[in-house]
Amino acid sequence: MKQGLFITLEGMDGAGKSTQITAIRKLLETKGHEVIVTREPGGTAISEKIREIILDRENAEMDPMTEALLYAAARAQHVTRVIQPALEQGTHVVCDRFIDSSVAYQGYGRGLGDSVSIINAYAAAGCVPDITFFLRLEPDVSKGRIQEGSLDRIELEAMDFHQRVFHGYEELALQFPERIITIDAAEEISAVSETIREHIERLL
Ligand code: TYD
Repeated sequence: MKQGLFITLEGMDGAGKSTQITAIRKLLETKGHEVIVTREPGGTAISEKIREIILDRENAEMDPMTEALLYAAARAQHVTRVIQPALEQGTHVVCDRFIDSSVAYQGYGRGLGDSVSIINAYAAAGCVPDITFFLRLEPDVSKGRIQEGSLDRIELEAMDFHQRVFHGYEELALQFPERIITIDAAEEISAVSETIREHIERLL
């Protein structure tokens, strides 16, 4: 049975995920593969509506568990309606963020701990990426790369929150060394792309 590759990108905002996703799409398309690019929270009409609620700066009073469940709800819709059907057709799926974001941001950042993995095991129906690229950039550096004026509710969080998120990513990378490839995002864009290309070509 043909099965597409499920590739995810993770890291702090400003780590350069979008640029690398464009490069991955180009790499796969040039080789004649079917590929879809998608993102979380989002990727379906319903998930994009949930995204608006989550990221709305006016929802400052949102409880951490509400937040975690909304990310998971958006993900459930995305996995069942977009990701799984594409993979089953042999289409590769490149996704900007996935469950690792929830573990890092809600589990470590908000302090919800292991509950986040449990919720998401249900939400994603056991769907796990084949490979995840963690674009590693220290929070103080990544903060300097994002535009102050357009910050969403999560980006508005204080530096200690982002430090915890970063620590969460480092822990995840240690926990799943087979799946999560850590790449220094402070390197040249072309060097990062090259590392990603080598890993993907090995999987094709
Ligand atoms: P993202 O789309 O990467 O933001 P932008 O459009 O600004 O590049 O993600 C939005 C925010 O949501 C980002 O700060 C990370 C956060 N997030 C979580 O906290 N948990 C999650 O499960 C996901 C997918 C994202």
